[in-house]
Amino acid sequence: MLRNDEYGVQISMESGIRLQKYLADCGVASRRKGEELIIGGQIQVNKKTVTELGVKVIQGKDVVTVQGKEVKPQEKKIYIMLNKPEGYITTAHEQFGRLSVMDLIEDIEQRVFPVGRLDKDTSGLLLLTNDGEFTYTFTHPKHHVRKKYIAEIKGTPDSSKLNRFKKGLKIEDYTTSPANIRLLASKKKSSIVEITIYEGRNRQVRKMCSTIGHPVVNLKRIAVGGLELRDLPEGKWRYLSKDELKII
Ligand code: URA
Repeated sequence: MLRNDEYGVQISMESGIRLQKYLADCGVASRRKGEELIIGGQIQVNKKTVTELGVKVIQGKDVVTVQGKEVKPQEKKIYIMLNKPEGYITTAHEQFGRLSVMDLIEDIEQRVFPVGRLDKDTSGLLLLTNDGEFTYTFTHPKHHVRKKYIAEIKGTPDSSKLNRFKKGLKIEDYTTSPANIRLLASKKKSSIVEITIYEGRNRQVRKMCSTIGHPVVNLKRIAVGGLELRDLPEGKWRYLSKDELKII
């Protein structure tokens, strides 16, 4: 049974599932990204655009479309690892013609979306999946998923700087949780360090390095939550192995 909501959108009266959860089940986006798509007016339910977050839908009854295409919950979940090159943005719905990680996985039939994000100028390990629940859990700060980076930074930090990094750094309006930093090599004007963090705030590694006076020259993510990039060539992707699926 359908009713018109206050915006004139026909929606189901029976208890359905929230539209953002439905979108995640369909592999359109994580729940949080789904909310952004809804607010941004990109989702239609039964041909009417929905921009409020409370709408519920019933699978098999309500027709949900994203940019004009109907989406339905997917059965088979897939998980892939991409070695993202610098210069690509991490977005599933690029609208301005910029290079996007989605351009690198065009050969995958299922609709997948990035698990978390990497800055445009960061390279390395990026997971993509159509499993919205996995994305929600894996990226939730409370799970403290470990992320490991190799960074080239300006200059060579002394041990007191490295310790500041380990204790937690005040950045803007927050203090980072303890992170690990290990000096791997020193060059004339820069150093190579391995950095491990357990949270994932916007440009966090870059901000942490700048805060101790050693800005990042380049940054590559090499591991996430027990998954390692290893020798996957830049710009290439692969499915996670069975053993890797057990880890996640
Ligand atoms: N920290 C950053 O500064 N950038 C990234 O892309 C990831 C972590």
